[in-house]
Amino acid sequence: MPAPTSAVPQQVRIALGERSYDIQIGAGLLGAPAAWQGLPAATAALVVTNTTVAPLYAARLRESLTAHYGTVHEVVLPDGEEHKDWQTLNLIFDALLSKGCDRKTVLFALGGGVVGDMAGFAAASYMRGVPFVQVPTTLLAQVDSSVGGKTAINHPQGKNMIGAFYQPARVVCDLDTLKTLPPRELSAGLAEVIKYGPIADMDFLDWIEANVDALVRREPAALAHAVKRSCEIKAEVVGQDERESGLRAILNFGHTFGHAIEAGLGYGEWLHGEAVGCGMVMALNLSRRLGLVDEAFERRVTALVARAGLPIVGPDLGAERYLSLMRVDKKAEAGQIRFVVIERPGQAAVRSAPDDVVRAVLADCTR
Ligand code: NAD
Ligand code: GLY
Repeated sequence: MPAPTSAVPQQVRIALGERSYDIQIGAGLLGAPAAWQGLPAATAALVVTNTTVAPLYAARLRESLTAHYGTVHEVVLPDGEEHKDWQTLNLIFDALLSKGCDRKTVLFALGGGVVGDMAGFAAASYMRGVPFVQVPTTLLAQVDSSVGGKTAINHPQGKNMIGAFYQPARVVCDLDTLKTLPPRELSAGLAEVIKYGPIADMDFLDWIEANVDALVRREPAALAHAVKRSCEIKAEVVGQDERESGLRAILNFGHTFGHAIEAGLGYGEWLHGEAVGCGMVMALNLSRRLGLVDEAFERRVTALVARAGLPIVGPDLGAERYLSLMRVDKKAEAGQIRFVVIERPGQAAVRSAPDDVVRAVLADCTR
C-alpha cells in the first residue's frame, strides 16, 4: 500500500435536483475524515470490493467508515469483467440478507467500474433502493463510470444490458489509489479521458496531447486535472440528460464498436477502455467516411490513442459478426445501429450509417 500524498481536494457537483451530489477529487481521501462527513446516516455500511482491491484499500476505507457506522460489513467479489453477471451480483444480496442489513444500509463501491456498476445495481434493487457511495480506484472509474448513475451487469448477448439508472450519494476519488494500477489499466482509463476532447472540448484535447506522457508517468498534477476536467464535462452532460434521452449518448463515443469487440472476443479478453480506445478510432474513420471530419483530425486523435498505449487496430471478428453484435447495442432502434460520430471537432452526434460504409470502416480498422 503506497504512502498517501497530500493535495487540496477539489469538488465537482452533479446537479440533478434532489439527486444532486458531489465528486470529491484529491490525494489521500480514503483516510481523510472530511471525505466521509455528512453521508446518509445508518447503523450499518457494506463495502463491496474485489479480491484485488480489498488487500490494498479495504482496511483504510473501513477505518474511516467506522467513525460513522456501528458496523462495517464487507463483501469481496471475484475480480474481472467476466464476473459482471447475475451470479456475482447475487453475492452482494447474499451478504446484505445474511447480515440482516436494513433499507438504510449504505453500500460503498470500492474498486473499478465493474465493482461500481454491480454495487450500484445492487443498491438500486436491494429493498427497492438503498443509498450508495462510489469510491473508484481505477482511472476509468474516476473519470467516467462512478459518475452519472449508470449501473448494470452484462448478459452473454450484450454488454451492460441489465441495469438501472441510480445515482450515488457521493463519489470519492482518491488519486493515491492510482499508484497501484497496472499500466494497462491506466491506459484503459486514458481512453475515456481522451473521449471527452473530440465530443465536447477541443481545449481539453490540446491539453491531453501536451500532457499524455505526464499522464502515462502518473504525474499527480496531470492526473488531478484529467480527473477533474473529465468529471466536469460528464457533470455538464448528465446534468442536462440524466437518462440518456438524447445528449448523454455522446458519452458513448467509441462504445458501439468497442462493445462489439468486448462481447465478440468474450468479456475480459480486451479491457473495456482498450475496446473504447480502438472503437474511437473506428468511429472517427466512420465520421470521416460520412464527410464530417477530415483525415488530419482522424489521424490526430488516432495518434493520441496510440500514445496513450491503446490498440488502434481491432480484432478481425468478421464484418457480419461485428454488425450483428452492434445491433444489440442499447442505442440501436428497430434493429438499426446508431453510432456516435464526430460532427466537427469538439461536437458529437448520434447517427445511423449504411452497412456498406460500416463494412469499409471494419476493413480499414481490423486485422
Ligand atoms: P475493472 O473494474 O475491471 O478494474 C480494472 C482492474 O484493476 C481490475 O482487475 C481491478 O481489480 C483492478 N484495480 C482496481 N483498482 C485498482 C488499484 N487501485 N490498484 C490495482 N488494481 C486495481 O475495470 P474498469 O476499467 O475500472 O471499469 C470497466 C467497467 O466499467 C466495465 O464493465 C464498463 O462497462 C464499466 N463502465 C461503466 C460506465 C458507467 O457509466 N456506469 C462507464 C464506463 C465504463
Ligand atoms: N459512460 C457513458 C455514460 O455514462 O453515459
